[in-house]
Amino acid sequence: MHATTFAAARGLAGQDALARVHKLLDVGGGSGSLSLAIAAHYPQVHCTIMDLEPVCAVAREYVAKYGFEDRVKTAAVDMFHEPWPAGYDGVLFGNIFHDWDVDTCQFLAQRAFEILEPGGTIFLHEMPLNDAKDGPLTVACFSISMLLHEKGKQYTSREFKAMLTHAGFTDFRIVPTFGYYHLVSATKP
Ligand SMILES: C[S@@+](CC[C@H](N)C(=O)[O-])C[C@H]1O[C@@H](n2cnc3c(N)ncnc32)[C@H](O)[C@@H]1O
Repeated sequence: MHATTFAAARGLAGQDALARVHKLLDVGGGSGSLSLAIAAHYPQVHCTIMDLEPVCAVAREYVAKYGFEDRVKTAAVDMFHEPWPAGYDGVLFGNIFHDWDVDTCQFLAQRAFEILEPGGTIFLHEMPLNDAKDGPLTVACFSISMLLHEKGKQYTSREFKAMLTHAGFTDFRIVPTFGYYHLVSATKP
């Protein structure tokens, strides 16, 4: 995942919406590629990479390699079965929703809503399908891969909006970041 998302992470990190965030929870943060790129771009941001402990151990190696131990931490949390840490004004899901079905994504959005401070922002970094669900071709092929090998698929912008609105978020936005990747954001009122 680190090699797959590292370039996209640099496109994500330049987004204005992240400039307002001070404490970011990176759910299923993996190697930390997204948190590290964001921390490198915005000196005010402190990130927590939340993942399963064996993955956190790998993330800590990358954090040390890039010298961000002071602002990028890890939290070993099973996102489905354990309480999430609170006190964040940003919650990021990078390539997470596409792993899961709608009900599970809805659960994850609801958990983010519960732990975010009022005025905080949920971020999804994903490659959306178009509304007809037949392209872009690369994303459609990726979606088939998700259907075959994971429990999810690539979602459309409308589907993301419906999931986040159902969880209570408002002010839905989506902007391109890198290649087919887009940053979806919405606010907890
Ligand atoms: C597709 S990877 C995304 C990694 C990273 N966000 C990125 O974009 O490079 C999905 C991540 O979700 C994590 N994950 C899966 N199940 C989890 C769980 N129950 N609790 C916490 N993290 C989990 C995996 O370990 C993996 O790091």
